[in-house]
Amino acid sequence: MSDAGSAAGSGSVEGTPRIAAKAVGKRFGDLQVFKDINMTIGEREIVTVVGPSGCGKTTLLRCVNGLLPVSEGEIQIEGTPVTRPRQGVAMVFQNFGLFPWKTVLSNVSYGLKLDGCPKEDLRDRSMEKIKLVGLEGFENSYPYQLSGGMQQRCGLARALAVEPSVLLMDEPFAAIDAQTREILQFELLRIWEMRPTSMMFVTHSIEEAVLMGHRVVVLKGRPSSVFETVEVDLPEPRGRETLSHPQFNELREHVWANLMDEVRAAEFEVN
Ligand SMILES: Nc1ncnc2c1ncn2[C@@H]1O[C@H](COP(=O)(O)OP(=O)(O)O)[C@@H](O)[C@H]1O
Ligand SMILES: [Mg+2]
Repeated sequence: MSDAGSAAGSGSVEGTPRIAAKAVGKRFGDLQVFKDINMTIGEREIVTVVGPSGCGKTTLLRCVNGLLPVSEGEIQIEGTPVTRPRQGVAMVFQNFGLFPWKTVLSNVSYGLKLDGCPKEDLRDRSMEKIKLVGLEGFENSYPYQLSGGMQQRCGLARALAVEPSVLLMDEPFAAIDAQTREILQFELLRIWEMRPTSMMFVTHSIEEAVLMGHRVVVLKGRPSSVFETVEVDLPEPRGRETLSHPQFNELREHVWANLMDEVRAAEFEVN
């Protein structure tokens, strides 16, 4: 859908995607995890990446984040090659990644502090995001006092606190029960509508990939590569009603049919 980097005000170079992967490959020793990955993500675009367990989704995100070097090709953010972690790129982790000894407020402030936010602004800026994710009243709680859903709300607030231009999501709702997961998906969509960013959203849930993504990138094969990129032209804003849209079901079935054999193979694989 909205691929052109057309939105004003961010100083981006016209036509340069926020994120670009160009013929990217990654090896760990003899293991080639993926190869020849090409994708672009625009300024106000959610691209979901779906593929079976072990196909390299987390590895790809860590490469985009600058935590891991690529073995082949190049990843660019706003046209600049990624060689190390950089400001403006935030990540939300499957297992929340919160500091257990810090309160919600301190967890959310942490990244801001590293970002050089003036001390007097820390509380206000953190509280703004805590409110945005619906955690007001829990700012002094510790992670162990919160449900999984609330912990991930905190993880999201922490990522949003730095006003990221790139938001990387690594199966953020995979460890959360099914009903809460639905609620958080719609919450995230609501927040994204208010503050659109360039989002790369990794999931193994085909349904989630179609619901959240403007495009779905399907990874497949050993080593994996992009099997297809599916345009998702569903009406926006998306919400619960999206799930009963006829096109939603068609797209979900289409992606599922392409992945089914791989998901089966992954299930029976012994490491
Ligand atoms: N640091 C590492 N060293 C060696 N192998 C790794 C490392 N990280 C991941 N792998 C391997 O790379 C493959 C892809 O892993 P991962 O990116 O976690 O997959 P996914 O997130 O899609 O489940 C797996 O076979 C995993 O064992
Ligand atoms: Mg993973």
